[in-house]
Amino acid sequence: TRPLHVLVLGGDGIGPEVTAQALRVLRHMQAKYALPMQIEEQPYGNATWRATGSLMPAATHAAVDRTDAVLFGAVDSLDRAGMPAEERARGSLLSLRRRLGLFANLRPVRTERALDEVSPFKPRTLAGVDLVFVRELSGGVYYGEPRGIERDADGRRRGINTHIYDEDQIIRAARFAFALARGRRGVLTSVDKANVMEAGALWRQVVTALHHDEFRDVKLDHMLADTCGLMLNRDPKRFDVILTDNLFGDVLSDAAAGMAGSLGMLPSGSLSVPKPDGRRRALYEPVHGSAPDIAGKGVANPLAAILSVALLLRWSAGVEAAAREVEAAVTAALDAGARSADIALAGEPALGTEAMGDAVLARL
Ligand code: NAD
Ligand code: IPM
Ligand code: MN
Repeated sequence: TRPLHVLVLGGDGIGPEVTAQALRVLRHMQAKYALPMQIEEQPYGNATWRATGSLMPAATHAAVDRTDAVLFGAVDSLDRAGMPAEERARGSLLSLRRRLGLFANLRPVRTERALDEVSPFKPRTLAGVDLVFVRELSGGVYYGEPRGIERDADGRRRGINTHIYDEDQIIRAARFAFALARGRRGVLTSVDKANVMEAGALWRQVVTALHHDEFRDVKLDHMLADTCGLMLNRDPKRFDVILTDNLFGDVLSDAAAGMAGSLGMLPSGSLSVPKPDGRRRALYEPVHGSAPDIAGKGVANPLAAILSVALLLRWSAGVEAAAREVEAAVTAALDAGARSADIALAGEPALGTEAMGDAVLARL
């Protein structure tokens, strides 16, 4: 089989800083496990737009079309003054997700004993938290039409978005989440607002029917999204796999980051349906954004990006042992006291981005 093509797009703000450390880890594991992998870096982002007039230049577009897995840093979608709307749309993260056909965004949340004091939660709440969001990534209010800002009959402006799901989108995300739960602790919590939204009511019907037809061995709970927000901080251990839509998944996964101590700890991986050759196309990225408040200082936490490499090794390269080794190295580095500023306690010395990368690599 052809080597796995990995396309590295650092993007904006701290994106390139944390991705550089992730890439060191990826190259190390590629060599250590002799993985057939071709790694290509391409420019992408606001700096690229300023330099070339294009957010995603032609060579990057071409690389996106042939890649198996993108290792992505971050975008700063707020720092785009003066950028033409077409350029924004062509190069946006949303259009990238769509071009790759990504529909299942996996956002695992695990807690590290070493960070008990850093998290605002009590250690007894945190102990043993091990959950994963399956965030539907192809639909919902992110893509629904009509959308826009327009004027009503009285000349007042109004912003319009449309929350829409068709049953095929719900089924493919739910089937993925059920299968994932089956390989874990066998519990799926499906999160919606069936009490308010028709798209939520359909979501619940479709998930219930799929459970009945194909996944009766998995325990299914339905939960309203607001309750899920509460349960994530009252009793997070109850969750195994959480299936939810694009917007709820975005919000609830950031809310869960508090348990992990920092947004700088949470990785994610997004997958397409299998292509004819059996491979899924994928994009791996930290859950966090470009962090303009700390960009350029070399202080960002690279662990979310490094843990995203673990997801790449697991889901795209298919080497579970290598994925676990990276995750274990992160835990070992934390246990040995390695702390970037976001996870250091007041007065505790903090390591920069590269030194955090060193601390992980030293354990691989
Ligand atoms: P953010 O995630 O960039 O930052 C939120 C807070 O967390 C900031 O205080 C930041 O310093 C901190 N933080 C984030 N990552 C960190 C890390 N690795 N190490 C240490 N601290 C870290 O969210 P924001 O500030 O609301 O958004 C900034 C920009 O990022 C916006 O343009 C937003 O659209 C974009 N964004 C992009 C993505 C993505 O690329 N997938 C995700 C979220 C936000
Ligand atoms: C994320 C981000 C993105 C999202 C933005 C930057 C489009 O918040 O990946 O969590 O909302 O999906
Ligand atoms: Mn988000």
